[in-house]
Amino acid sequence: MASASLKLSIALTCALLLSSACLGLEVGYYKKSCPRVEAIVRDEVKKFVYKNAGIGAGLIRMFFHDCFVQGCDGSVLLDPTPANPQPEKLSPPNFPSLRGFEVIDAAKDAVEKACPGVVSCADIVAFAGRDAAYFLSRLTVKINMPAGRRDGRISNFTEALANLPPPFFNITQLIASFAAKGLDAEDMVVLSGAHTIGVSHCSSFVSDRLAVPSDINAALASVLRRQCPANPTQANDPTVNQDVVTPNALDNQYYKNVLAHKVLFTSDAALLTTPATTQMVLDNANIRGLWEDKFKKSMVKMGAIGVKTGYQGEIRRNCRVVNRS
Ligand code: HEM
Ligand SMILES: *[C@@H]1O[C@H](CO)[C@@H](O)[C@H](O)[C@H]1NC(C)=O
Ligand SMILES: *[C@@H]1O[C@H](CO)[C@@H](O)[C@H](O)[C@H]1NC(C)=O
Repeated sequence: MASASLKLSIALTCALLLSSACLGLEVGYYKKSCPRVEAIVRDEVKKFVYKNAGIGAGLIRMFFHDCFVQGCDGSVLLDPTPANPQPEKLSPPNFPSLRGFEVIDAAKDAVEKACPGVVSCADIVAFAGRDAAYFLSRLTVKINMPAGRRDGRISNFTEALANLPPPFFNITQLIASFAAKGLDAEDMVVLSGAHTIGVSHCSSFVSDRLAVPSDINAALASVLRRQCPANPTQANDPTVNQDVVTPNALDNQYYKNVLAHKVLFTSDAALLTTPATTQMVLDNANIRGLWEDKFKKSMVKMGAIGVKTGYQGEIRRNCRVVNRS
């Protein structure tokens, strides 16, 4: 079987050379095998993001949602099939809100033309999230993203539900959810700063933030009550901006919003419920450049969660379906 002998030869190469590529991720992983890949992905992301900034928000969130379920392995991209009718993609944390899949398809097409069969979909998701952060931050958040992830073959509805933190989580639950992925409380606070861009559906916050007493700013609450139905349904579930001040800029405005109680989710407001996380919010809000620096590091850390490398997984030909085995 071709794939078995390929796996064996990769395993042997790893054992003999102890190549760093076999041990984990590395920056510039494709410099020999596909030298233009990062430029190709960046150009695709640029096209889409400059047309619609919201797609950039979607790509950053997609990277998070990929990494928290089965590791960063492109599992979030897999479409339903008769053999697997309920993939991650259809799970409530992802459906219908997760967006940007067409960017990954376009990038994969362009990459396959340049270097067929070489670059994983998981790495394209990581590059695309990184590039979206670059463009939405007006070229200030520039991340060296290690690569070498391989694509998974499992994508499970229930696992997405179980591993992605919902917006009603309190601080203890949030910290535990990130700790389960090897990320600490500061990573959680820093990565939550991505809520400085993009939108939320009303259904993600109405019941626990508007329908009952909450600490949400009264002026923001009244705006949101005008934008959102009291009982959002699938047929009537509008979206609202997450950051009412600079909705399309990836910046530290999120932390100022948290301090002003102008954030949508219980999980955002929860950052002010312990002294340690409150101090992190204050620092990110007040110290120029601090958040951008920490965000870069936490994105790289997130990008290493549960990765498949070496002979694990596969290089998917089409990001929406697993290869024929
Ligand atoms: C800390 C726990 C987190 C919770 C509970 C959470 C929850 C949510 C929810 C409920 C939405 C709105 C979905 C909708 O209704 O449309 C959302 C949007 C978003 N989240 Fe998070 N999130 C968390 C962490 C993160 C992280 C770590 C990132 C990335 C680093 C991220 C990036 C985003 C982005 C960019 C959006 C806007 C997406 C768009 O406009 O398409 N979130 N999040
Ligand atoms: C999905 O994951 C759950 C929980 O790990 C497991 O019980 C279930 O059998 C899985 N479903 C499929 C179709 O593999
Ligand atoms: C968070 O929620 C869990 C589960 O509902 C609860 O047991 C815990 O006491 C809560 N913690 C805080 C700090 O509110």
